[in-house]
Amino acid sequence: MEQLIGNTSGTPGSLEWLAQAYAYPADGPWLRANMVASLDGAARLDGLSDGLSSEADKRIFGVLRALCDVVLVGAETVRAEGYRPGRARKEFAEQRAAAGQLPAPVIAVVTRSLDLDLSAPLFTEPLVPTVVITTSDAPADRLARTAEVAEVITAGTGAVDLPRAVAALTGRGWRRQLSEGGPRLLGQLAADGLLDELCLSVAPLVTGGDSPRIVNGPGIADVRRMRLVSLIEEKGFLFTRYLRPTDPDRSPSDRALT
Ligand SMILES: NC(=O)c1ccc[n+]([C@@H]2O[C@H](COP(=O)([O-])OP(=O)(O)OC[C@H]3O[C@@H](n4cnc5c(N)ncnc54)[C@H](OP(=O)(O)O)[C@@H]3O)[C@@H](O)[C@H]2O)c1
Repeated sequence: MEQLIGNTSGTPGSLEWLAQAYAYPADGPWLRANMVASLDGAARLDGLSDGLSSEADKRIFGVLRALCDVVLVGAETVRAEGYRPGRARKEFAEQRAAAGQLPAPVIAVVTRSLDLDLSAPLFTEPLVPTVVITTSDAPADRLARTAEVAEVITAGTGAVDLPRAVAALTGRGWRRQLSEGGPRLLGQLAADGLLDELCLSVAPLVTGGDSPRIVNGPGIADVRRMRLVSLIEEKGFLFTRYLRPTDPDRSPSDRALT
């Protein structure tokens, strides 16, 4: 691995080095998204993101999970990719304990339909309880069944109110937040101004086709230029880390109050 921009010290590519390169800010809630795209902007290949990924991408994916308190993910990604519970990794156990984090990140699934496989390991074998974020008018029978196997957060009616949902996660002390998409969820997070950071892996592939982009949703009224803070290359894959511009009127901790 070669770091082209950024100043991480240590052995390039090691877990410690990556953990330093992707460290969360010392305090305040922070929502980072991690996505992969092809050179021509596709967010999936043959229906999944796996065909766009690489060994290094998976290593970074794992480190970002190991650093966060909570993974926020849309239900379609959970269904398509067969999401499993977060796992405890011994390499990060000491660091997580020292930071007061649970041994594994909480997986928080955003869904209106509650069309989830409640017999899957995500609900039957989680190390830490899985969270389901839904609406106050979600189907009552499904809601009751879901509440038996997951912690349910309701935020909004008709659609999950994402600023409220993210504030609820922060309110549980989960300030290091990671969204793994998919593109429709990320589209809303971006449009709602909730995205503090985008970790975008660029795969050296041209796929064509009609795959959505990584941000798939309403146009963003307040389009802002992101700031590149880290760029790593391995085998033609680029691993970028962009932060939102510094906004003197709105610090990340303001979100806790939204
Ligand atoms: N390139 C990448 O990095 C990447 C990352 C992740 C996923 N993917 C790919 O992207 C595809 C899935 O992404 P997607 O964009 O179609 O879906 P998604 O964002 O993963 O999930 C969309 C679903 O999330 C729920 N949802 C989202 N916003 C909601 C809101 N405000 N209120 C209530 N529910 C809400 C709904 O679930 P219900 O339908 O249950 O109501 C909705 O159908 C898969 O092919 C996956 O492989 C790619």
